[in-house]
Amino acid sequence: MKRVDDFRLQLGKHNLVPIMVGGMGVDISTAALSLEAARLGGIGHISDAMVPTVTDRRFNTKYVKDKLKQYKFNVANSDKSVVQFDLGLLAEATRMHVSSTMNAKRGNGLVFINCMEKLTMNSPKDTLRVRLHAALDAGIDGITLAAGLHLGSFALMQDHPRFHDAKLGIIVSSLRALQLFLKKSARSQRLPDYVVVEGPLAGGHLGFGMDWAKYDLATITVEIRDWLLEQQLNIPLIAAGGVFTGSDAVGFLEMGAAAVQVATRFTVTDECGLPDKIKQEYFKADEDDIEVNEISPTGYPMRMIKSSPAIGDGIRPNCEAYGYLLDAKGNCAYIEAYNREVAAHPGEKRIKVWDKTCLCTQMRNFDCWTCGQNTYRLKDTTLQQADGSYQLLTAEHVFHDYQYSTNQQIALPQALLSGV
Ligand SMILES: Cc1cc2nc3c(=O)[nH]c(=O)nc-3n(C[C@H](O)[C@H](O)[C@H](O)COP(=O)(O)O)c2cc1C
Repeated sequence: MKRVDDFRLQLGKHNLVPIMVGGMGVDISTAALSLEAARLGGIGHISDAMVPTVTDRRFNTKYVKDKLKQYKFNVANSDKSVVQFDLGLLAEATRMHVSSTMNAKRGNGLVFINCMEKLTMNSPKDTLRVRLHAALDAGIDGITLAAGLHLGSFALMQDHPRFHDAKLGIIVSSLRALQLFLKKSARSQRLPDYVVVEGPLAGGHLGFGMDWAKYDLATITVEIRDWLLEQQLNIPLIAAGGVFTGSDAVGFLEMGAAAVQVATRFTVTDECGLPDKIKQEYFKADEDDIEVNEISPTGYPMRMIKSSPAIGDGIRPNCEAYGYLLDAKGNCAYIEAYNREVAAHPGEKRIKVWDKTCLCTQMRNFDCWTCGQNTYRLKDTTLQQADGSYQLLTAEHVFHDYQYSTNQQIALPQALLSGV
């Protein structure tokens, strides 16, 4: 019986364990988590979402405070078009986050950055270009383009000296999205080095509509595999979304995927950036505690635990401090929803907003508990302690379980000795 360790992912000169830990926005996939995946011979991801906020936390910088100070005059104004990111500071923060991670890298694996095109930051092209270039400057091994169609992203990097040396990949949820990308980026004379095919059971934003349940990863993977073969395009496929056991992974590797991308099982590891209390919420969740909703202002459906504090919260938009989802005209769907509720409930101190959420603030505060569909199975991957809480895992344990397990088995951790 095969196990994941019987396969290898060949990316250029790199021979890798075919396990990629997916990017999880706003520092849920921390540097520490990505570094473990790389140390163990696979691929880890940091994320480029809200990096100035992340560096404030990691390195005690003051980017958010300074930006808020600069735009404080605008806080009560519903027009946010004046709120801009300083591109020099954005590059500085990105370089700091990436270079400190890359300097700490050990082992034969790779560290990539997950780049969210949907972070439009009131100036979509300029800010995306700066983020991509800064990550390349700082020595990132590769960039995974996520959440968006990225039709112009290769062109934005084309003049960077590392454009051909860094590994560049794209996440798609349909053959059509891949075809569009390849057509549009043909002029850059460069194919993606890998394509992540993400099915509807993934965490974070979904590349499907609210009819996501009609689709399944295996069907899309086979469709894309066959099309690539027919076109004689030799691009490694990486299957993602709902791969919960080593045996699930082997199923996709035997189907022709070159690797799998996984995330949910790592949300309950020591290295994951979620606060420990929230990791317990992930463990506790049952299947009917998980929903796909449309409250993200990006316009993409998103999966989350129903008891996320973000749902229904009517916090005042905080674009002066954050502002990552402001479109090119300084609008965000949450601002509209918030203003509508304020107008409808004059004098009310704490309004509720149900249809959209202030994703920047909520993700920053770990109050939007986005998760994969299989989160309800996490409790079966560990031991429950006497006080009812669940024992956290190490990233190494989970990685090795994917790598070596067979027969749909999941290895439980060694019990921690309490009181020692
Ligand atoms: C908590 C969480 C946050 C995520 N955030 C992002 C993100 O910021 N960008 C992205 O491209 N994918 C994101 N994802 C998707 C993962 O990278 C990955 O492709 C997917 O969740 C794999 O499926 P699995 O969680 O069932 O293993 C996130 C997933 C989770 C669980």
